[in-house]
Amino acid sequence: MSDRTGSGYLAEVSGLRAGYDGGAVLEGVSFRVEPGVRIGVLGPNGGGKSTLFRVLLGELAPLGGSVDVRGRCGFVPQTERSRLDYPVSALDVALMGTLSRIPWWRRPGRFERQRALEALETVGLGKLAGRQFGELSGGQRQRVLIARALVQDARLLLLDEPFNGLDQPSSRLLGSLLDRLAAEGRSVMVATHDAGQVRGWDLVLCLNGRQVAFGEPESTLSRRVLEATYGGEVMVLPGNGSGRDSAILAPYHHDEVAEEHRREHGR
Ligand SMILES: Nc1ncnc2c1ncn2[C@@H]1O[C@H](COP(=O)(O)OP(=O)(O)OP(=O)(O)O)[C@@H](O)[C@H]1O
Ligand SMILES: [Mg+2]
Repeated sequence: MSDRTGSGYLAEVSGLRAGYDGGAVLEGVSFRVEPGVRIGVLGPNGGGKSTLFRVLLGELAPLGGSVDVRGRCGFVPQTERSRLDYPVSALDVALMGTLSRIPWWRRPGRFERQRALEALETVGLGKLAGRQFGELSGGQRQRVLIARALVQDARLLLLDEPFNGLDQPSSRLLGSLLDRLAAEGRSVMVATHDAGQVRGWDLVLCLNGRQVAFGEPESTLSRRVLEATYGGEVMVLPGNGSGRDSAILAPYHHDEVAEEHRREHGR
């Protein structure tokens, strides 16, 4: 079989049911991840995005269906502010990515440090390798965590809302880093609330306790799908010149984004 017919996929999920002691919180999830794609995982709070990632990482056993992940999966968690006080450098954090590859009795040596430094260079943070992780900005910390995943040689990267709290320049940097990783043949799955951003990527997976849709953003993100994903009315802003779809917003973004839209467009 060729890659197109499936032999080269990085992950395949079929009929997945996942949840906790209280029962399933996610059902009917089926999709495949080929190499070199950027997949937006869209859904409301509690929609099941992080739960899906935990299943892909093997932390949470499926309640039903099948999950086949090939190769290493790297994870960039939802920002954990409480854990930022540890006195570790950016390099230390990137080095953690080597720990699974060396025997337990060995400490990371020169080879591992070199790999970690290279990964920090790749994410544009070579110069800040010695900086305390807790002193870095949110966007820089996200990139350090991506460096850690690269050191693990992850082919599939799962990023849980990495754009939250980033300003526009940091978002752009992170976006172009994800583009580059995909161009190298890695795949990224990015949990996000931002339907507009997902439109620039290859695929979108919409979750709201179940899989609402999976496919190319252009043909998938209809108003109907967005309403089913967010469980309510979405809002359509008057045309802003950037295309029909980019003006559809999920409910809880109404206030902040409508305000921004008014500022920019004067209506
Ligand atoms: N450890 C847990 N034990 C029990 N229920 C949980 C646990 N973690 C999450 N849940 C529940 O599972 C559902 C899905 O949560 P999940 O964290 O996957 O959503 P999410 O899409 O990542 O949301 P957010 O956008 O807020 O991060 C929610 O109803 C949540 O309360
Ligand atoms: Mg989450």
